[in-house]
Amino acid sequence: MTETHQLNELIARRWSPRSFNGAEVESWKLHTVFDAARWAASCFGEEPWRFLVAPSGDTAQFDRLLGLLVGKNQEWAKNAGALAISVAKKTFTHSGSPNRFAIHDVGTAFGQLSLQAEALGLHIHGMGGFDAARTRTEFAIPDDFEVCAAIAIGYVDGDGAPPAGRKRRPLGEIVFTGDWGKPAGFAG
Ligand SMILES: Cc1cc2nc3c(=O)[nH]c(=O)nc-3n(C[C@H](O)[C@H](O)[C@H](O)COP(=O)(O)O)c2cc1C
Repeated sequence: MTETHQLNELIARRWSPRSFNGAEVESWKLHTVFDAARWAASCFGEEPWRFLVAPSGDTAQFDRLLGLLVGKNQEWAKNAGALAISVAKKTFTHSGSPNRFAIHDVGTAFGQLSLQAEALGLHIHGMGGFDAARTRTEFAIPDDFEVCAAIAIGYVDGDGAPPAGRKRRPLGEIVFTGDWGKPAGFAG
């Protein structure tokens, strides 16, 4: 793991489990993870992120979000301690013009939320497998907003260690210098 030896511990520990233990996420922890999302950077300080959330103890709202997921995701996400859906405001509030960074910035918020969750002993699992159109209708989300991703939040079954064998593309395939495709060299 030569490329990851200096990684922040929270980043090294984060992974997306499908094995939640069914425990509800405490309200103060939900508060804290969304607070972490709130403090993300955004273009023009727009803060385009919005979230729908339901802790598992709120059965009616939790089942409403669960029912939007595709069957394969429902099978494991039903054991999460909370479900959420991220939404992006597609225009700048100050000008009304399109904000092409909106989904980028909601992704940043999702990343912060994930790491804050990790710091609190929780895990996050993002999901694209859900019915975004039905989410819009059911929650009367205005046209100006894009439905982004579903999010399972909860306590993992077992010790929470990432599974063995996870891998990523090498840095040389994703970070370039000079010419497109020319790997950047890093010393150390
Ligand atoms: C936006 C987004 C959508 C995803 N959609 C799904 C999904 O529908 N079902 C699923 O099981 N995992 C889903 N994942 C999880 C990814 O498969 C997972 O993050 C990826 O394989 C890397 O694994 P890791 O998060 O454990 O490092 C999604 C992740 C993200 C960020």
